[in-house]
Order: sequence, then C-alpha cells, then structure tokens
Amino acid sequence: MNSSVTAQAERRRTFAIISHPDAGKTTLTEKFLLYAGAVVEAGSVKAKGQNRSATSDWMELEQKRGISITSAVMQFDYRGHTINLLDTPGHRDFSEDTYRVLAAVDAVVMVLDSAKGIEPQTLKLFEVCRARRLPVLTFLNKFDRPGLDPLELLDEIESKINLRPTPVTWPVGDANDFHGVIDRRRKKFIRFTRVARGSTIAPEEELSFEQAAADEGILWQRAIDGCGLLDAVGADLDMQSFLAGESTPLFVGSALTDFGVRALLDAVVDLVPPPPPRPDIAGVRRPIDAPCSAFVFKVQANMDRSHRDRIAFVRICSGKFERGMTMTVSRTGKPFATKYASTVFGAERSTVDEAYPGDVVGLVNANGLQLGDTLYDDVPVTFPGIPRFAPELFTNARPKDTNRVKQFRRGIEVLEEEGVVQVLRDPAMGDAALVLAAVGQLQFEVFAYRLDSEFNAPVELTGSPYQAIRGTDEASADRLREIGGIRILCRADGSLVALFENIYRLQRLLNDEPKLTLNSLSVE
Ligand code: G4P
Repeated sequence: MNSSVTAQAERRRTFAIISHPDAGKTTLTEKFLLYAGAVVEAGSVKAKGQNRSATSDWMELEQKRGISITSAVMQFDYRGHTINLLDTPGHRDFSEDTYRVLAAVDAVVMVLDSAKGIEPQTLKLFEVCRARRLPVLTFLNKFDRPGLDPLELLDEIESKINLRPTPVTWPVGDANDFHGVIDRRRKKFIRFTRVARGSTIAPEEELSFEQAAADEGILWQRAIDGCGLLDAVGADLDMQSFLAGESTPLFVGSALTDFGVRALLDAVVDLVPPPPPRPDIAGVRRPIDAPCSAFVFKVQANMDRSHRDRIAFVRICSGKFERGMTMTVSRTGKPFATKYASTVFGAERSTVDEAYPGDVVGLVNANGLQLGDTLYDDVPVTFPGIPRFAPELFTNARPKDTNRVKQFRRGIEVLEEEGVVQVLRDPAMGDAALVLAAVGQLQFEVFAYRLDSEFNAPVELTGSPYQAIRGTDEASADRLREIGGIRILCRADGSLVALFENIYRLQRLLNDEPKLTLNSLSVE
C-alpha cells in the first residue's frame, strides 16, 4: 500500500461550480482564492471591459467576445487540503466543454441567484450532475439584495430538480433586510456586516443564540421559527443522501460582500469526498494507490499560437504522477512521454513535477491523445470514455474555398477529435457537405473561427432546418428515409442518427411506430 499516495489523495477536493450566467460564479471563485490566500486581492480572475485580465483571455475570439472559453483548473491550499477548482467556462452560450468538466470532478457547488432560483442553464448542468450522481452543495447567492423567500427557494429546488435541500445555514431577516445566518449545526448566529464591495476578506461576527435573540428581536424569532420548520421536516445534513446526489447541503450568503463564503469553502473541505477509486469499463475500481492512471477530459490545440501545440488535460485517477514518466495510451497501446506537463491558468503555464489523484495536469505535445483516452503506468486499465451530449443545435457546413479542401478536411479532423463540435456526415456526400451539431451556438463560432485562423480554410455555415436528433439503426433508417423531413446521417463512430425538421413529426412517429429505433441521445 502506497501510504503517501493515499494520504495525498485524502487531502484533495476536486470540484466545479455550476450556475446560470450572472449568478455569481466568478465572484465566488475569486473569493475562494482570496480566502485560501491564493490571490491577495479579488479581481484578478475577472476584470470586465478594457481592464479584463489577460490571464484568462488568451484567445482572440475570447477577447472579441469578452468571454472565457477555455477551462482551466485553479489549485490552491486551504486548511491543509489541496483544492482543485475546475472552471466550467461561463458564458451565455455554453458548450460541451462545460459538460465534460463535470466528468472530471468529484462534486459541484451550485450557485443560485436568490432572486431567480433555478435558471435554465443551471437546470441543464444539473442534469449532467444527476446522471453522474455527483454530490451537490448549494449556495444561495446575492442575499444582500431583494430576492425570493428562502422557503420558496427550497421548494423550487425540490420541485424543479428533485434534490432535497438540507440548509446548513439559514437567513435571519429576508433578502431585503439581511442580518446574517444561523449556523444550524454549530448553533451560532453569524452577523452580516455590509462592506463596500470587498476586495479583501470581510470580518464575520459570531454570536450565541441568546445574544442574537436579544439583538435581533422579531427577525430572530422568525428565523428560529423557520429553523423549527426545517427540523420538523428533517431537512438536516445527511451525508449518505448528499454523497448519492439526492440531497444538497445549502448555504446562504453573498459572494460580492463576502458573506457566507468561508462556511461554503469549509464545507468543500469537510463534506466533498476525496477522490474515490475510479471504476474501469468493466466496473472494477482501480485502487487509489495503484500505479498512476489518468483520463483525458479536454483536448485543446493551438493554445499557444506561436508553438502550434496541443494540450490534453488529464485528471489523475490513481498513483503518483511524475513528470517525465512514460505512460501507455490504452486505446492504442502506444507509449506517451510526459516530458512537458503543466498547469494552465489562462495564458500562464507552469511546470508540474508531480501530481496525485484528483489533480489535473495539462500534457503538452499531446498528439497521440484523444478525448476520453486513458493513460496508465504499469498495470493496464481503461476508464469509460467521456460522455457525449445530445446536441440541440445544427448547422450545415461546407468549405468556402474549394481550393483549400485538403486543409478543410484536416481542420475538421482536428476539431472533431477535440470535440469542438459533433460532425455528422452523409456517407454519399463525404466532407463536401457536413452537418455540425452542438449544444451551444458558441461551439459553431469557435469551429468557424479556428478553421479560418488555424487552417486557413474558411467555412460557410448555413442554418439547417433540423430541430431534433435521435439515435437509430439500419433497419429503422430504411423506414425513416421513406418519410419526408428526416435525414439519416453518420456520427464519427459510425453510428446512425436521424435528424428531424419537425419535432411534432418525431413525437407522432414515437407514438405511431413504437417499434422504430429512435433513441434519445441524452448524456451517454
Ligand atoms: P457569473 O460568473 O456567474 O456570470 O457571475 P459574476 O460573478 O460575474 O457576477 C455577475 C454580477 O453579479 C456581477 O455584477 C457581480 O458583481 C454581481 N454579484 C455577484 N455576487 C453578488 C452578490 O452576492 N450580491 C450582489 N448584489 N451582486 C453580486 P456586474 O454588475 O455584472 O459586474 P461588476 O461590474 O460588478 O463586475
């Protein structure tokens, strides 16, 4: 038994934050870094407009759109633990990359805007968490300003996503007139001190229940009554259902004014599980102290335009990773030398010499690696691939310049392998007329931009009439071809899909011809 690997893994907490844009994910991330002492002043992760920090904006397209497409990992130490916070790219159009990050974490923090509750993107991201049975901590943010009644928010979480909230902290005063929170487990009142948009850590004053009752009067009584209700319905922290992704410890606060952030970060350390042994494709868990193994959850080419390189982001699953070690790619059986291993934060890279389960490493020069690949040392293992996601948007694509078809093909090959978009082909037409599929519009933009700028092969994207996609097989495809408004195409792995111009026709078919194979492609 390799005790140092086990001990290192025990110290790791690997998680991501999911939220709808503007709920406060960036602000919360900054505050986490601030509390951990990883930055001295909040504002270094994000600065808007002209002042935007160069660290998270290395790509021209990102700069143009003022968004962050690349996901990086932020690693920091807190209370003797090593925290890996994987960034889910946050912007209005999200992409499959956002989902893929969720395949590499052990838990998520779901940030809700208290005035809005569960918003559409949170819902979509949560569905991926549910499919993976990820434990979820919930943060009700922006309590410093008017919002919904907290009991209403609890109801909304339970009814919209079927996750049982178990408040660890509970507000005193409502969102219009916020006085602080009750820490239900420690039986303390934590008073909210309004600070000017703090870029430094705000003081948190702790009071006993007696003192709080004397100070806060009727508001305190109401909060205590609320807690009584929670007690009565048994809404208490329950580790078993939390770890199974069935209940969610809930925290109330305000990232901007620094309130409730420490309690949440403490909960990441205390409640999020350390990296568990990962099951392989046969369902056998590879022990944490087995020889090093990792899987690729993101591939990004040309991050550094001057080097034309390709980085594969891997999550370490077992053993100790040492830079320079030669691992085996399970798909090809070929060796992979890890000479260039780094952490990537925006444009900045620093060399990683060793890493442990739960950590993320960027392998540079990763030409032999694909999304979902497993790497191992010594004892072979293959982990399940990265799930694919049901695309919701479709567009036709063809080369603008017929003299550059070769470059176009090459570009498609690279971008498809990276998973920038899903490429659907009509075997009769080849690459001359493709259909691209994605979960977010931004994926198409990135695809077109990169084909043009990296392969000098401009692409023409034209709207496609399709509204829905289903997986099918040869037998059903023959029947579907007889019906108008349906197109049968091939995915990269050779499987067949049917695209529908009209969602109602699809629904009718599902009713009228139940024997047809029309599988929904939700998280696979
Ligand atoms: P995101 O990454 O989830 O998209 O959200 P982000 O942190 O960028 O926050 C979105 C907006 O909400 C920002 O305001 C931010 O200051 C504000 N915000 C975040 N947390 C809180 C909170 O606890 N209370 C209040 N009142 N506001 C909060 P902005 O005006 O869009 O940007 P900025 O000019 O303040 O940076």
